[in-house]
Amino acid sequence: MKVLVVGGGGREHALCWSIAASPLCDKLYCAPGNAGIAREAECVPIGAENIEGLVAFASDNAIDFVVVGPEAPLVMGLADELRTAGIKTFGPSAAAAQIEGSKAYMKDLLTKSGVPTAAYGRFTDIAAAKAYITEQGAPIVVKTDGLAAGKGVILCDTVAEAHAAVDSMMTDKTFGDAGNEIVIEEFLDGEEASFFALVDGTNALPLISAQDHKAVGDGDTGPNTGGMGAYSPAPVMTDALTDEVMEKIIAPTVKTMADMGTPYVGVLFAGLMISKAGIKILEYNVRFGDPECQVLMRRLKSDILPALIAAADGQLDRFNLRWHDDAAMIVVMAANGYPGAYEKGSEIKGVDAAENQDEVVVFHAGTKADGDKLTASGGRVLGVTAMGASVTEAQANAYKAVEAVEWPGGFCRRDIGWRAVDRETKASP
Ligand code: AMP
Ligand code: GLY
Repeated sequence: MKVLVVGGGGREHALCWSIAASPLCDKLYCAPGNAGIAREAECVPIGAENIEGLVAFASDNAIDFVVVGPEAPLVMGLADELRTAGIKTFGPSAAAAQIEGSKAYMKDLLTKSGVPTAAYGRFTDIAAAKAYITEQGAPIVVKTDGLAAGKGVILCDTVAEAHAAVDSMMTDKTFGDAGNEIVIEEFLDGEEASFFALVDGTNALPLISAQDHKAVGDGDTGPNTGGMGAYSPAPVMTDALTDEVMEKIIAPTVKTMADMGTPYVGVLFAGLMISKAGIKILEYNVRFGDPECQVLMRRLKSDILPALIAAADGQLDRFNLRWHDDAAMIVVMAANGYPGAYEKGSEIKGVDAAENQDEVVVFHAGTKADGDKLTASGGRVLGVTAMGASVTEAQANAYKAVEAVEWPGGFCRRDIGWRAVDRETKASP
């Protein structure tokens, strides 16, 4: 069959890498792709948010199946348009994608489903928002309702900071229309984990656990990024917790969405906060995490394509996936300056040398082929992945591969996986 993957980041490179290995896939396209994806797929220069262009390409080229990577085109209705054109698609409708597209919608849906989440209020009025903050006290979290490229969440230590966050979102419109409505919520303390399930409208199939590091600096310090690294398994996610998340969080959400007439089809990504007091959901995303997807694909033993098709066909019941026991780690290499202003165009060498090491795969995010040269074209640029019998071993292998990459224009964190490594160190006498 002919498959089209939409997107051009590290997540899409990992998806293309897995799908290209499927015996069911005769021809793989990726729009727009990147220099690394070009190894696995034919890249077509259509932007991931060019809905009309993507639907026309899929129709004209008799694409059998489309896998949508990022959230923005889903929120814009790409999956609906493709299905209307008769093309099977992995990804939720625009209505279902509101679970990521609108935090207010998501929070109301969680409440309606009885899913444990932080207490919250939603506001379109500045004075009412500030009064709520004063009443609740700090620490407190202020969020834009709409998508703000992962930046519309401000954790505030004081009431004054939270009031300033409201002004920035609602008066100064720092995040544009995303801040027309805001959500203010209780600050949750604990350890975060990323939870993924494939969903076919009624049935949900949990994937393995992963954990990412959002802060840019070692020790989880500095501003938040899309993710500077990740690993799987996440030791914090025990089998018992997985069962609890499926029962108390995923299943009621999927049921409520089906009952509302907006069934969810695609991958449901729950950002969890795990504390002694129990497990709560911070947010839903309608896509695989990036860079979590890269470690999931490294650990997946089964063919991914039939699983994605089963989700699109409503046939996930009794479907199972097999995973490698080995742990996987990804270390993200980003352009100097990221997540602030960064330079584009610096040359990267040594990727082949890194990949010549045992069980190392380098996924590309913001890269461009410039003649024979590979150059950086984005903030997050490479994802160096490695395997190991433990997270500790996977970490050692990943950093050995990072050493082989020669890129003065980039940097990476040096401590990806520290929580899991600490746990493993304590567990072994
Ligand atoms: P979100 O986009 O809603 O997942 O928020 C981004 C990040 O902000 C999360 O991954 C958490 O690290 C943090 N965060 C969001 N909401 C809360 C909360 N209620 N309490 C503590 N941290 C939060
Ligand atoms: N790594 C977190 C995310 O993709 O949102």
